[in-house]
Amino acid sequence: MISQESIQQIQSRIDIVEIVGSFIKLKKRGANYLGLCPFHNEKTPSFTVSPSKEIYKCFGCGKSGNSISFLMEAEKYSYVEALRWLAAKYNVEIEESETSPEFKQQQQVADSLYIINNFAQKYFTDALLNSEEGQDIALSYLKERGFREEIINKFQLGYNSEARDGFTKAALASQYSLEYLQKTGLVNVREGHAYDNYRGRIIFPIHNQSGKVLGFGARIIKKNDKAPKYINTPENEIYVKSKILYGSYFARQAIDKADECLLVEGYTDVVSLHQAGVENVVASGGTSLTPDQLRLIKKYTNNLTIIYDGDGAGIKAALRGLDLALEESLNVKLVLIPDGEDPDSYVNKVGTAQFINFVNENKKDFILFQLGIALKDAGNDSTKKSVVVNQIAETISKINKTEDFTKQQDYIKQCSEILKIEESGLHALVNKFIREKVNKEETRVNRDQRFAEESSSVEQYNEADTDVKALFNKDEIHEQAMIRSLLEFGLKNWNEKLKVAEYIFKEIEENQLEELIDNKELIRVMQTYKAWFDAGIEPTAKNFLYHEDQKMSSLVVSIMDFNYEISPKWKEHFEGFIATREDLFAEEVFSTLNYLKLRKIKRLMDENQRDLEKSTVAEDQMILVQTHQHLKQMEIELTKQLGTVIFR
Ligand code: CTP
Ligand code: MN
Repeated sequence: MISQESIQQIQSRIDIVEIVGSFIKLKKRGANYLGLCPFHNEKTPSFTVSPSKEIYKCFGCGKSGNSISFLMEAEKYSYVEALRWLAAKYNVEIEESETSPEFKQQQQVADSLYIINNFAQKYFTDALLNSEEGQDIALSYLKERGFREEIINKFQLGYNSEARDGFTKAALASQYSLEYLQKTGLVNVREGHAYDNYRGRIIFPIHNQSGKVLGFGARIIKKNDKAPKYINTPENEIYVKSKILYGSYFARQAIDKADECLLVEGYTDVVSLHQAGVENVVASGGTSLTPDQLRLIKKYTNNLTIIYDGDGAGIKAALRGLDLALEESLNVKLVLIPDGEDPDSYVNKVGTAQFINFVNENKKDFILFQLGIALKDAGNDSTKKSVVVNQIAETISKINKTEDFTKQQDYIKQCSEILKIEESGLHALVNKFIREKVNKEETRVNRDQRFAEESSSVEQYNEADTDVKALFNKDEIHEQAMIRSLLEFGLKNWNEKLKVAEYIFKEIEENQLEELIDNKELIRVMQTYKAWFDAGIEPTAKNFLYHEDQKMSSLVVSIMDFNYEISPKWKEHFEGFIATREDLFAEEVFSTLNYLKLRKIKRLMDENQRDLEKSTVAEDQMILVQTHQHLKQMEIELTKQLGTVIFR
């Protein structure tokens, strides 16, 4: 576990606008910032970030949270990974206190692999630039291909000698464990001998989003039919191929700026295009795009342009899995490089301007292109052709209809023309696929809903009695309001002797109000607050926000009020005439407590009533009636104070 001190340090430096802002564009709007929600598709921004409260909330999809939950959601990090990311960003040294042994183990492996990769990258770069063999064989080869020193340095390219075990020896001499060296794929062991895995190869380090080396691609220099052209890092704790796009570390900003991501096949394509000044480019390694890779792209842009060589097998691989891109509302375009060239050789041949020009003028629509290829493959076979019709209908059905309705209509029209079939027929087929998808989703939603209902505490009430439910919800609102008062005003002075928090706790204890709070999670917040308060820790909303218990933290976020932050301009305009919740906090505390008391009285009255109905002893009945009157009197007074009328 990361120590409390470290967490505090990280918390004190967090700037939610900066963090969220590194994923999406934010615009200042009053006291808050506004942007397009990264968690659902939208065209008008409803994703709101409050810098003072350090939380975000999307008024479209309802997602809310703090910097940490944002990272957890956006980067699929665990709580601890999110903290580590923040620690790295803000240069906070992390102290560890006791952790689960498995986690520690895994973390240690990952750290070790990064350290070894870092060592290896430096070793290979040194070998390329400073060794005689490197200069003669590798550097000259790279220069011949047109790579200049500047770009070689930027991408940290390297070389490993043809000798058996130069790297292995150096690594072992530096005390790196053989086991981990094997895990990184840098060293192989055969018949008891450890030797270098990449020999006589140019080394392309592969960087993660923060620039650390995850693994390597190693290209052979001399022609050799037996050896593979490239050897890549095997899957390990840090190298997960399906999540990696080569070059993404260097392309991030350019993609954001251009609002377009170019996708090529190979390492050399990325490096050459960068050298030519085209920096919004990443490589997939020639395999089909995975959902994780698409998500990575989608974080920066909705526009994906795939640039492949025209005759390569890669193009078909690239097309596979792209239906998913449609579901994510990515606009996918395709450019084929002619005459046996690939992006690397082509840009070297024609230069930057002509390359960009070519790309812009030859962008093909991905769906129409796919249809073309499939039709060519099907030839005159009518069974194969009907498969093609079905496939294209399914693809079109995946276009996000609510956002791209006209787009879908256009495709149906164009594809039916190409296929020479009735437009209405294709239309019907597309609708069939949409229906099937909706049905599937509905089943899922229903199941989820049923589950949620079964497990909520509503079940103790009569399900058919909707009024009871409404009441239940109303009660919850008052419970929340009380916790909100506590969080927001707890440290203010209630009177000369007591803080607001102390007053609330006193009232709750004296009137035994805690048992009235139905949401047990809220009670936990309250108890944690009290424990912190008693221990002299500032129980601010912020401390709750970053609580390791995500259930507690998200509850706190959900009850925090966005609206009470009135824009300074607005305030100015009315010259301080609008009273904010802040100004009226005493009333708020008072009335939320009163609501709880009122609820208590109602329950006591109900109990009393039941006793009265059961009772047969006159004396008891007398007392019960008196009790009722007494309670009724209290209710009237409380209601008066609240300024509301209660119907019973
Ligand atoms: N690739 C691979 N393993 C191979 C061949 C290819 O992993 N045996 C991946 C590499 O990521 C490579 C990409 O597929 O960069 C494209 O392959 P290819 O076009 O053959 O190589 P280039 O990158 O164009 O390399 P070069 O220009 O040096 O031929
Ligand atoms: Mn090439």
